[in-house]
Amino acid sequence: MTDQTHDRLLIIDFGSQVTQLIARRLRELNVYCEIHPFQQVTDAFLAEFQPKAVIFSGGPASVFAEGAPMPPKSVFDLGVPILGICYGQQVMMHVLGGKVERGHGTAEFGRAYVTPEARKLALLDGWFAADREQVWMSHGDHVSEIAPGFEVYGTSPNAPFAITGDTARNFYAVQFHPEVHHTPNGAMLYENFVRMAGFKGDWTMGAYREEAIAKIRAQVGDGKVICALSGGVDSSVAAVLIHEAIGDQLTCVYVDHGLMRKDESEQVVGMFREHYNLPLIHADESDLFLGRLEGVSDPETKRKIIGGLFIDVFEKYAKEIGGADFLAQGTLYPDVIESVSFSGGPSVTIKSHHNVGGLPERMNMQLVEPLRELFKDEVRALGRELGLPPSFIGRHPFPGPGLAIRCPGEITRAKLDILREADAVYIDQIRKHGLYDDIWQAFVAILPVKTVGVMGDGRTYDYACALRAVTSVDGMTADYYPFSHEFLGETATRIINEVPGINRVTYDITSKPPGTIEWE
Ligand code: XMP
Repeated sequence: MTDQTHDRLLIIDFGSQVTQLIARRLRELNVYCEIHPFQQVTDAFLAEFQPKAVIFSGGPASVFAEGAPMPPKSVFDLGVPILGICYGQQVMMHVLGGKVERGHGTAEFGRAYVTPEARKLALLDGWFAADREQVWMSHGDHVSEIAPGFEVYGTSPNAPFAITGDTARNFYAVQFHPEVHHTPNGAMLYENFVRMAGFKGDWTMGAYREEAIAKIRAQVGDGKVICALSGGVDSSVAAVLIHEAIGDQLTCVYVDHGLMRKDESEQVVGMFREHYNLPLIHADESDLFLGRLEGVSDPETKRKIIGGLFIDVFEKYAKEIGGADFLAQGTLYPDVIESVSFSGGPSVTIKSHHNVGGLPERMNMQLVEPLRELFKDEVRALGRELGLPPSFIGRHPFPGPGLAIRCPGEITRAKLDILREADAVYIDQIRKHGLYDDIWQAFVAILPVKTVGVMGDGRTYDYACALRAVTSVDGMTADYYPFSHEFLGETATRIINEVPGINRVTYDITSKPPGTIEWE
């Protein structure tokens, strides 16, 4: 259990694909909430968590299924407001004495329109300014009889109980998903719900910063913390926050494996040393990494070599400073939410994320993870709060193995130098055209082929490269970025003119899936 200072809202996860969006909507309202899978929510859990309100998420199961996901009955005796969504509504009705039926004929998927009943409900304040509201439905089963004490406040053609509520007990249940984009006014329902529950909306980044600092101090005491600073947003924000908490008890290690972008190391090291005065070891281990990668062209072998060396190097520097008791990591909330699965396999899968895999066990260190409760955009907000420059906070993700996975085939220093130059021109073009912030990630890959060209009066025989740029929400899926032909033409010309060693430029228009973002 984490934050105890704020009023807390508990989201019980029944396995919906969009449960995280409920948390997003609530965080936008400055309300502290946590998502926990239903299996974990026991009587004892509730007693400890002490939620000020509870939300039941949607989910793919049927209340009729054997072992159907259910909350503990005691949740209804807490005396706090409860909001059930989709499957959460069915659970509520099922447990409280209503009826749920299998969906035949009335299943609804997609856009629907809800119209109001004459009676008023505070949950719906601001709704029905027009005579109907667009909502997003996604359900098979449906409620056919509401539980005693409930009344209907909104209906859709296929959902006579689209919006229901028991105002005496403060229980509300809707058949649709207010958290998704396709329910355009859905956020208002959450706003009304948390207002009715009495939340103060005091979960702000300023408050978070103060509390996180106090927690880090309490955890670390006078121990030593070590942090692998990659220059990525997460590790940078974590490092600055921890430094603010414990000063020189923190040592950061920036491992330069020789696979960084042009000027990257100087920029990262310069910024953290000069602006933040962070104790920072600049570990130039490029000879070691590039030496061991010589002659290796298999992508997985490259990754394994880099991952293994990274740990060795990190361990070496940790020993050099006399060991450390704690390892700091920029783990985020989506990495720690336990996802609910109903399909045969183990019922709970825990996604864990180790940026420096295996090291804490090997060195007997505990983890300090001050961003564990935050989503990516909240980490960016915290970074702004800590004064990190906006250009730094908005940087594209960069993979741990660096340029190694953007250099298919054998890696040589000569190829890496060409790649760095071409990449720098490409990113410069993107920035000049004001496109950087519209793109999730953009980079150049140098291809393991040479092609024939003609420049001036001479024949050239140089490398071909591929430009990659994608849009994405989380890196799990991606679309290629639709650059204009003018942009592509201008960029190709600049790269060929400015980067000796490249005489052909291609643009990668593969989406993910079926491609991946990186080339290896
Ligand atoms: P792919 O290529 O799998 O990448 O579509 C998805 C996202 O993850 C990044 N990526 C990595 N990040 N270590 C990292 O820290 C890695 O080994 C790694 N491999 C891929 C990739 O840049 C993209 O943002």
